[in-house]
Amino acid sequence: MTDLDWVPDGIDTSRPSAARVYDYFLGGSHHLPVDRELAGHIEAMTPDIGATMRANRAFLQRAVRFLARAGVRQYLDIGSGIPATGNVHEIAQAEAPGSAVVYVDVDPVAVEHSRAILADVPATGVVLADARDTELVLSATAELGLIDFGQPVAVLLAGVLHFVPDEANPAGIVAGLRAAVGPGSHLVISHATADGQPPEVIEAQKLSSRTGTGIVLRSHAEIASWFDGFPLVEPGLVHIPLWRPEPGEAVGHPERFGAYAGVGTA
Ligand SMILES: C[S@@+](CC[C@H](N)C(=O)[O-])C[C@H]1O[C@@H](n2cnc3c(N)ncnc32)[C@H](O)[C@@H]1O
Repeated sequence: MTDLDWVPDGIDTSRPSAARVYDYFLGGSHHLPVDRELAGHIEAMTPDIGATMRANRAFLQRAVRFLARAGVRQYLDIGSGIPATGNVHEIAQAEAPGSAVVYVDVDPVAVEHSRAILADVPATGVVLADARDTELVLSATAELGLIDFGQPVAVLLAGVLHFVPDEANPAGIVAGLRAAVGPGSHLVISHATADGQPPEVIEAQKLSSRTGTGIVLRSHAEIASWFDGFPLVEPGLVHIPLWRPEPGEAVGHPERFGAYAGVGTA
């Protein structure tokens, strides 16, 4: 144990983690000097990165609110991250008390902190698993008994699939998840892209490999292909600030946000 009581035993504190770097950019309190150092390097190269991450979080929140208002009552949030403000269960349960939310992450800090804040929250659960192991994600989720896969489920993959390398077949992972959920289910994806981005974004991408889970930037066409059988709701797969912004949320140069977001419904 380090002197920080939220750091789980056994984690390598000399190496930055994607979850903690994201937490830093969101203004959270679960990051170490090594994470802040990497965040500083990335930010020096791509000053829009913090705004992109906050816009990603805001997209996730809008998408969950949209789905909750459309009647969704079950959420499988994969690559859920370290709890921050406006977590999925808070938004879903504010709209519809009792909505079931299962959080899945590969990062021990994200999982431990999620377990701590959810201990007394009904209809929620946490799974430590790698998204690349779809079978484990689904079986461990089923074991919790919170989600009925015969009923519509919203599968949330916000800001996570760019951590999955091509060799791990992200298209196959999403296909496996689509096949596991019933009619009327939904797929939410946000993903980093190089489309239209300046060269320094590509350079900054290389820094992400220091976390052990480097980022793969993908094209609009590739990300859109993962919605097979889940047609995108309006406005389609768009730069993240453009996905149904709420009043006052519109931004001037959405193309500067190097990530796409979309929601598909089966
Ligand atoms: C950028 S954060 C996104 C958090 C949250 N989904 C959001 O959009 O606000 C990415 C999260 O994905 C997790 N992650 C990265 N690779 C993963 C994998 N292979 N399996 C599960 N989680 C993963 C990281 O640990 C991190 O918590």
